[in-house]
Amino acid sequence: MTNRKKIAAGNWKMHKTLQEAQGLVHEIRTMAETELMNQAQILVFPPFIHLQTLVKQTEGSNIKIGAQNMHQNEQGAFTGEISASMLKSIQVEYVLIGHSERRQYFNETTTTCREKINKALIHGLKPVYCIGETLEERNQGNHFVVVEEQLQALADVQPENFSNTIIAYEPVWAIGTGLTASADQANEMHIHIRKVVSEILNADFAANVSILYGGSVKPDNAQSLFAMSDIDGALIGGAALNSRDFIDIAKSF
Ligand code: PGA
Repeated sequence: MTNRKKIAAGNWKMHKTLQEAQGLVHEIRTMAETELMNQAQILVFPPFIHLQTLVKQTEGSNIKIGAQNMHQNEQGAFTGEISASMLKSIQVEYVLIGHSERRQYFNETTTTCREKINKALIHGLKPVYCIGETLEERNQGNHFVVVEEQLQALADVQPENFSNTIIAYEPVWAIGTGLTASADQANEMHIHIRKVVSEILNADFAANVSILYGGSVKPDNAQSLFAMSDIDGALIGGAALNSRDFIDIAKSF
């Protein structure tokens, strides 16, 4: 018997000015308070410069704010980077690690992700670790192997941090393309992920970790995804930029 947290997480990527961000969070908060019965934890990942404002704006609500990335070092000469302790100092609670766009455009690897996850946990941040295969890797039948390799980044997570760690499976071919993995395809991978993390860490973590699906999640496909045995929520890009769509997805549990 597990008690996995249901999560609807919005990854805003490089979208929204401060004023637009405040407006969108205002709408999300109002709708969440009137329409949601706490069936899901709501997470919002805005650009760095809006974090502090939005943390304040969501105080006392069911919405938690997270960063889209962080640097793996404690501090130092890394121009343009943000550390875990900086995020923690403004009450940020969550951080995306290893999003496929970071891997693709900013050369993040399983090794750097492993360092980032460890650093995030040391500072009391909750990492949402993103993994997933490209279309080429899936067509070659390598999708399970690719995900297994990416999951090695979780190898140092200690039992006291199991409940602070979240996984997001996002097949790269489904991100922003309108192509969604079918509910069965996604669930098949989620089951595989639990098996692999059970081998890397332990069965308790595997059974209790929330695994989100991401890649063109919309109000009209969320329900079939969430109905699957091993899908505990969604990491939502495009549809999270619209308050109505985002809340409708969160209502689909
Ligand atoms: P999408 O993005 O929902 O626009 O496909 C998902 C993501 O990249 O997290």
